[in-house]
Formats: sequence, C-alpha cells, structure tokens
Amino acid sequence: MATRSRSRASARGSSGNSEGSAFSWGNQAGTLALAAVAGAAVGLAANFGRKLMVQGIAGKAGAWDEVLHMEHETVLALFDQIQATSDDQVRTRTHLLAKIKAALGKHALQEENVIYPALREFNNAHDADALNGEHGYVKTFLYELENSDPASTDWLAKVRTFRAMLEEHIRMEEDEVFPALKAGLDEAGNAKLGAAMLKEGMKLA
Ligand SMILES: [Fe+2]
Ligand SMILES: [Fe+2]
Repeated sequence: MATRSRSRASARGSSGNSEGSAFSWGNQAGTLALAAVAGAAVGLAANFGRKLMVQGIAGKAGAWDEVLHMEHETVLALFDQIQATSDDQVRTRTHLLAKIKAALGKHALQEENVIYPALREFNNAHDADALNGEHGYVKTFLYELENSDPASTDWLAKVRTFRAMLEEHIRMEEDEVFPALKAGLDEAGNAKLGAAMLKEGMKLA
C-alpha cells in the first residue's frame, strides 16, 4: 500500500506563495485507502484499456486533476513494488525502474507542456517554476539509479529518498496548487485544460 505524506496543512504556505522546495522531507504520515485504485491503474498501465480509462475520466468533466492523481498513485504503487524487492532481484528492480521512468515521463510531459503553462497563465509562475524545477531532480534520481548497481544496498536507499521527494512534490500539486487552479477556472476552462492534457499524454501513452 502506498504510504503518503498528506497530513500537513502546508509547510510552505498557500498556493502561489510557497517558499523553499518540495524536496524538503515531510513526515511519513497517513495511509491512503487507494491501493485498489492504484493496483487497477498499474494493471492497466501502458495498454489500450488504460487509454480508454483516462479518456473516460478526462473527457467527462475536465477532471484533469483526477487523471493526474491516478497517475501519481500508479507511480507510488510501482515504488511499493520496487521497495519490496531484495538485493538479489536485480532484473525485477531494473524492470520496475523502467516502468517508473516511463510513467513519470508521460506524466511530466502533461504537466510541463500543459498544466504548468496554465498555472503561469493563472498568475502562479512561482509554483509552476518550482514544480518544473523539481521535475529536473526527478530525472536526476532516475539517471543516478540507472547508472548505479541495483544489487547494492545503497540503491534501494536512493529509491526511498527518491520516493520521499516525489511524495512531497505530489503533495504540493494535489493539496495546494492543482485545487487552486481548478477552482480558478470555469467548467469550460477545466474541460479545455483536460482535453489539452489528454492530447499531450497520448503522445507517450
Ligand atoms: Fe509534477
Ligand atoms: Fe504530478
């Protein structure tokens, strides 16, 4: 089950006013009862069924935030799997890391090419730039994990550090930034944003 840090009101204030980086460590608190959702998403990942599922969610109500949440849960479920491996399960670790990289690649494309630009349009360049910068460190973690020995004890420790950073990034998106953006757009605006994001995501789905 994905253990998530979702308990804090905010270590950095409200959206648009945040200070510091989402890479600061938060306490691991709270357990999401979303394992079933995450598991289903993992099972459907990278196939046509998943495309239909995402289309269904995004196409109905401009629920771009729900699509992104589902993708967050999918990635965290993959982290659950990789963190459950032992040092001798090198092939499994390598395979799961590739899946995490693919999922995060598609996710980042949607956020960086559609959601974050919309945030800047919505006068929240501060958070857009901070989140965009953190995506760079996501790539750095992936790079370092790909270029180190998956059988070493340090490797899984780096995975745990990566996950903690990612959870804090997700918390900022889901608890602060995305709700403010969604509330600031009308129904047509959210539908337009969802359609644009879906179109972008389909390029790598
Ligand atoms: Fe992000
Ligand atoms: Fe995200």
